[in-house]
Amino acid sequence: MNTVSNSTAKILPELVEHLYTVRDYIRFGTSRFNEADLYFGHGNDNAWDDALALVLHALHLGREGREQILDARLTPSEGRAILALFTRRIEGRIPVPYLTGEAWFAGLKFKVDARVLIPRSPIAELVEGGFAPWLADEPMAVLDLCTGGGCIGIGCAYAFPTAEVVLSDISADALVVAGENIVQHKLSSRVSALESDLFANIDQRFDLIVSNPPYVDAADYGAMPEEYHCEPALALESGEDGLDFTRRLLREAAAYLNEGGVLVVEVGNSAVHLEQAFPAVPFTWLEFERGGFGVFVLTQAELIEHEAVFSQ
Ligand SMILES: C[S@@+](CC[C@H](N)C(=O)[O-])C[C@H]1O[C@@H](n2cnc3c(N)ncnc32)[C@H](O)[C@@H]1O
Repeated sequence: MNTVSNSTAKILPELVEHLYTVRDYIRFGTSRFNEADLYFGHGNDNAWDDALALVLHALHLGREGREQILDARLTPSEGRAILALFTRRIEGRIPVPYLTGEAWFAGLKFKVDARVLIPRSPIAELVEGGFAPWLADEPMAVLDLCTGGGCIGIGCAYAFPTAEVVLSDISADALVVAGENIVQHKLSSRVSALESDLFANIDQRFDLIVSNPPYVDAADYGAMPEEYHCEPALALESGEDGLDFTRRLLREAAAYLNEGGVLVVEVGNSAVHLEQAFPAVPFTWLEFERGGFGVFVLTQAELIEHEAVFSQ
């Protein structure tokens, strides 16, 4: 759902006559974004970085060499292209990655569009660290359940160069994007995409199941800034307490893990509800250097030990 903001600020294309350099455009965008009271939570946490990303994208410039080009002058058509992006960011409250078509996760570039959640899970840190110390051996089979555009599973394929990785999602639309990312990363020989409601179409076991499922509770979803409502609701909402999906996952996961296998799941703010629902279960909650919380680890043995509780 793209909603129009309350901001009445209009960015007129004629402004190109008053803006000259890359620095001018970034400064102008920063001012307008702050004025429009945008929300920053999809890759950047401030107006300057959002404006910078849009300027670099419009100019077909990479992330390198930013300092050297700050005082370079733009042509009028380049300026108009940037102002058009600024207008879409403000009027649609559209997060920057949906405007540029790309996002970064675990140091890797992914295609994104409104069919998939914008990657931002703290699980990136676990991917980069090879899930140490949670895996006894390098996994041969990995499932990225609720894969969206495939960022976690594709990251795992880089972390574990001999592993077979399955990316699964209930959304056929999301899987189109995941498929494009598999091709972009040249991983088709050992990464596949599968449409499945949880484990419905999965008929194998894995050494690692990692999932960033929908986990936002009803109250939080209603209160989220407009930018989040540009993302698929299916990727965020999961019932009254945010745990509809995770309850099913906990009931079923053991049967899809090999002996010694590990389940890693993000539940974010809904961690508090999970602890209340299953006080006897020894969830191991992970800490992250770059921020983030609400990610737990359970082993297959722990899932089996507590299966009676999960089945209630
Ligand atoms: C929070 S997004 C995660 C996307 C990606 N893994 C990431 O971390 O950026 C959750 C994903 O779960 C998918 N999903 C929702 N319900 C599902 C279900 N019952 N079975 C499988 N996938 C589901 C959604 O389509 C969405 O792509």
